[in-house]
Amino acid sequence: MSPTETARVTASPDLSATELVAELRQYLRPDPPAISLPPQLFTSPEVYEWERTRIFQRSWILVGHVDQLAVPGDYLALTIAGEPVAITRGRDGLLHGLSPVCRHRMMPLVEPGGGNTKDLTCSYHLWRYNLDGTLLAATHMRGNSDFDPADCRLPTFAVAQWHGLVFVNLDADAPAFDGDLSVVEREMTNYHLDEMVQVSSWTEEWNCNWKIAVENGHENYHAIGFHPDTVKPLMTGGIDMDVHADSPLVTRLLSPTGTPFETTFLPLTEAEKSVMYSFRMFPCGAVATFGESIAWISLVPISIDRTQVRGGTLMPAAALEGADVAAIRAQIEGLTGVINAEDRRGLEAVQSTVGSRFVQRGHLSPKEPGVLAFYRNLALAMTGGTTGV
Ligand code: FES
Ligand SMILES: [Fe+2]
Repeated sequence: MSPTETARVTASPDLSATELVAELRQYLRPDPPAISLPPQLFTSPEVYEWERTRIFQRSWILVGHVDQLAVPGDYLALTIAGEPVAITRGRDGLLHGLSPVCRHRMMPLVEPGGGNTKDLTCSYHLWRYNLDGTLLAATHMRGNSDFDPADCRLPTFAVAQWHGLVFVNLDADAPAFDGDLSVVEREMTNYHLDEMVQVSSWTEEWNCNWKIAVENGHENYHAIGFHPDTVKPLMTGGIDMDVHADSPLVTRLLSPTGTPFETTFLPLTEAEKSVMYSFRMFPCGAVATFGESIAWISLVPISIDRTQVRGGTLMPAAALEGADVAAIRAQIEGLTGVINAEDRRGLEAVQSTVGSRFVQRGHLSPKEPGVLAFYRNLALAMTGGTTGV
C-alpha cells in the first residue's frame, strides 16, 4: 500500500455535529472504550455552540478566590465561552454577578482582569452603573421620554461562594449551588479551606480548545513528557491515579506520594499526607492539594480555540505569619509559571494538529482513567444528562 493509500484509509470521517455528540454516548457505558474523543469535537463550530448552550450557559464555573473580592469595589472580569461576565463586591458587601455590557450601545464596561472601582462607568458616553448593576446616572437622557432609568440595569448572573472559592452561573435561575460538592467538602475537612489565604493568583491564555486543557488536567501520565524536570520529580509515588467518579460534577483523582508531606499547621492524617488530591469539578474547575498548599484552577473557554487559565495558590493563614510572604509568592509563581508554560507549549502543539484530515481517535493508556471520567461527564452534559449542581 502506498503512503497515499494509507492516509486515505486513516483519514477521520466527516461527521455532523449530531453524529459527533452521538459518539459521546459510548462513554456512558459501564465499560466505556478506552479511546480518545473524535478530533472534530475540538474543531466543529456547531459542537462549540452546543457546548456554550448545554454547558457554559448553565453550569457553575469557578472564577476566583474571595481574597480577590475582599472589599467593596473589588471586581473580576472575564468572558465565559464568549459571554462577558463581571463579579463585583458591592457597597452592600455582597457579591454580584453582572453582564458588564452597557445598556446604551453595547460598550464593555470593564476590560478583562480585575481591580477596584467605585462604579462601572461606560467610557463611550459615560453612563454609570452601581456595583450591583443598577443605573446610577445616564448622561443627556432627560429628553427621551421612552427611557425610564428605573428600568435600566445590568442583567445579573448567579454567584456562589464555597469555602472561599467563587463560582458564577450564567443562568440567573440556576439551581442553588450545593449538594454535589459535599464529597469534596467531606474529604477536605482537615485542609481548613475557610482559613486559607490566597498567596498568589494568575491568568493566562492558551491557544487551544478548552477540552484539550481539561483532559490534560485529568491525568498525570503527561508528567513524563511535558514536565520531566518539574512535575515528574514530585510524582515520587508514580503516575498512577486512583479515580473516583463521584457525580456528574465531581471526579476525585488521587495520586500517591512516595514521600509523605510534612505538615505543621493542618491536622492532616497520615493518609492525607501521602496523597495528592485533585478534585475536578465539571466542566472546567479543579482544586488540588499538595500537603499544606492548595491550588485551584479553572480552564475557561474564550472561544473554540482559546482558553483562559485562571488559578491561585492557597496556604494556611498561620503558615504566613511572620514569614517572608513575598519570597513564598515569588517561589510559587516561579514554579507555577514554568509548569504552565510546559503545559501551554504542549497543548498548543496538540491544538495545531486537530484540524488535520488524518488525525484519528487514539487508544488510551490504563494510566488515563481520569480522562474517561471527564468524557463521561461531557457526554452527560452534551446528550441531555445533568451538568451537575
Ligand atoms: S455605550 Fe455606554 S454610554 Fe453609550
Ligand atoms: Fe501538566
